[in-house]
Amino acid sequence: MTGDEREPSEADSDHGFPPGFFDRADLTSDERFYRPDRFVTHIDDGAIAAVGALYDELDVTGDVLDLMSSWISHFPNTPERLVVLGMNESELAANPQASSWVVHDLNERPVLPFADATFDHVVCCVSVDYLTRPIEVFREVARVLRPGGAFVLTFSNRCFPTKAIRAWLANDEPGRVEIVRQYFLRAGGFEAPVAQRRTPMASGGDPLYAVWARRGPA
Ligand SMILES: C[S@@+](CC[C@H](N)C(=O)[O-])C[C@H]1O[C@@H](n2cnc3c(N)ncnc32)[C@H](O)[C@@H]1O
Repeated sequence: MTGDEREPSEADSDHGFPPGFFDRADLTSDERFYRPDRFVTHIDDGAIAAVGALYDELDVTGDVLDLMSSWISHFPNTPERLVVLGMNESELAANPQASSWVVHDLNERPVLPFADATFDHVVCCVSVDYLTRPIEVFREVARVLRPGGAFVLTFSNRCFPTKAIRAWLANDEPGRVEIVRQYFLRAGGFEAPVAQRRTPMASGGDPLYAVWARRGPA
C-alpha cells in the first residue's frame, strides 16, 4: 500500500486510510457516468472463466447478491436466487442469470436495501476499485450475509481510471490485493480474508485476483 499505515480509528471518517486515498479524478455523479449502456466484458475469457471457477470452488449457491453488477454475472451454474445491484438499469435488466435487480449508488448511499441475513453469499467482480466508502459497504455486506457466507471480490488490472480511487491507481497488483484485504480487516464482522491470484502468471491474458472472507458468527 502507498501512504502511511495508521491504525484504523472510529473517529476518522476515512477509517485510518491516508488523506486523498479515496479521491477520484471524475467528480461528476456515478449516475451520469454509468447512464450510457455498456454491453461489454471488462476482462478476457480466461479471467471470466477464473471468476466462475472460484464461485464453483467456494460453492457460491443459494441466495446470492452480485454487487456492482451489469448484464453478466459469470456464474457457470446460476444460483437459486441471484439479486444484481448496479448503476445501469438496462444492463441489469438484461442479466440472464438475475432473478431481480436494483439500481443503487453505493457511493451516494452505502446502506444496502436488504434485511439482515438475506443472502448466503455476496460477490463483486472487477468493481471494488470504484468504491469511495468501502468500509461502510463491507459492514453492510456483513449485515446482509448469513453467518458462514462468503463475500468474494475479484479484480484484474483494468479499470475506468477517472472513476477508480486514487490509491488503486497508485498501487501495483499486490498493493491492490492488500487494499481489499484491509477493507475486510477494518470493516470487521468477517473471518480472516484469503487472497489469491487465480490465473497463471504465464498465461498472457488478463490477470485475475480474488480476495474473500466468510461472515463471522452472528
Ligand atoms: C467494470 S463494471 C463491472 C460490471 C460487472 N460486475 C462485470 O463483472 O462485468 C463496473 C460496475 O460497477 C457498477 N458501479 C460503479 N459505481 C457504482 C456505484 N457507485 N454503486 C453501485 N454500482 C456501481 C457499475 O454499474 C458497473 O456495472
